[in-house]
Amino acid sequence: MNDTSFGTGSRILHDQEGSINSNKIYNSIYCGDNLTILKHLLDDYSSKVDMIYIDPPYNTGKDFTFRDSFKHDRYKKLPLLKEVGATDPHSLWRQFMTPRLEKSRELLADCGLIFISIDDNELHNLRTIMNEIYGDQNFIATLVRQSGVAPRQDAKHVAIQHDYVVIYAKNANSAVINRKPSALKGFVLEDDHIEVRGCYRLNKLDRGSIRYSDSLDYPITAPDGNEVWPGGDPSDRKWTWRWSQTKVAWGIENDFIVFKKSRDGKPSVYFKEYEKVDNQCRPKVRTNPYSTLIRGCPNEKGNRELKTLFKRRVFDYPKPVDLIKLLLKMGTRKNSLVLDFFAGAGSTGHAVWALNREDGGSRRFILAQLDEPVLDEDVEKDFPTVADITVERMRRVAHQYTNLEFENDECGFDVFRVADQNPPPESS
Ligand SMILES: C[S@@+](CC[C@H](N)C(=O)[O-])C[C@H]1O[C@@H](n2cnc3c(N)ncnc32)[C@H](O)[C@@H]1O
Repeated sequence: MNDTSFGTGSRILHDQEGSINSNKIYNSIYCGDNLTILKHLLDDYSSKVDMIYIDPPYNTGKDFTFRDSFKHDRYKKLPLLKEVGATDPHSLWRQFMTPRLEKSRELLADCGLIFISIDDNELHNLRTIMNEIYGDQNFIATLVRQSGVAPRQDAKHVAIQHDYVVIYAKNANSAVINRKPSALKGFVLEDDHIEVRGCYRLNKLDRGSIRYSDSLDYPITAPDGNEVWPGGDPSDRKWTWRWSQTKVAWGIENDFIVFKKSRDGKPSVYFKEYEKVDNQCRPKVRTNPYSTLIRGCPNEKGNRELKTLFKRRVFDYPKPVDLIKLLLKMGTRKNSLVLDFFAGAGSTGHAVWALNREDGGSRRFILAQLDEPVLDEDVEKDFPTVADITVERMRRVAHQYTNLEFENDECGFDVFRVADQNPPPESS
């Protein structure tokens, strides 16, 4: 191992043996406490990270393959807590998260976004801390993800089948949440302009309107010489055309207008709405905003994916790759730098590579995962710490994608280890 930094008082060692395509790709996995790591990252990445995704312990009161409960002694040692004498799990969780979220903000670029998975145990605390650190004005949305497929029959009151993803921007005025390509419906007709304009659908040019306008109530001359009025009746003052006379003349000349008999046999005027251009024939990509409701990415999917890779269960509740891919689509550009400092089984790294393969992107990731002991005897024999699972997951995915001829060894990463195992001062 090479010593690469003494910057934060803790030594960060480069693990050459654990790395793949070392120093070429600039993806990194840091093993150790994330507060130490975040402080270290500030040396090189202050205001440089485009998107952060984290999935911190939910503080459910239970432990899994990793410690999720803040009833554990490890958290009771946090120095600030000793001072204020706070020992309830919610205060412990807040005290643990606050300095980490403060550092996260310093790492984010001005247009950067942070996405945080959470459930009802700490949603209210998270919002409070985030409003203090990021500012309420930079709150973007809380997404609701369906996490369970079947309602649990043993639920005490109601069967909870969802968790959340809370989104904040470092600066809501400069941040951009991408839109998704719209699922185009009804664009099935073709004409001679298909190459440039794509398929089209027909819409009626007239409309019954409460906002009657004289200038939009005029006759259009059909190819057979007959005049067509909006609503079919010159004296009806409720119907108008949607387009002005000048625009209709332009539409006829440019093949945007169609004359047809409607079902009642009367002549009608339609305009063509094309897939790839707008109503002035300018190129247009049709998009929709993402919704706050996330379906199709339940926990079960994440479990299955990890089990397929390891041929056994090694980690509880890894997030599905599709969930993180969706968040990456919302919050990144093709060359973004993505940070996850509660990396767990490495789902974010997996999702970054999966999306790069899909859209030709060159996104990079930095993962941080505590090298805490795995709380499952069978798993612990092969993977003593959770960070071992993170690294092994990425090694397996790299292998799989390289076999699938992912361009140019793009699946490399460097592994770094925090040498000082003492927890850092939480307050600094
Ligand atoms: C809910 S899990 C994350 C799961 C991950 N999103 C995935 O899909 O696999 C939370 C993770 O945070 C890790 N963790 C807890 N405290 C940490 C710390 N101080 N530094 C780094 N990681 C920590 C836990 O070990 C656990 O793996």
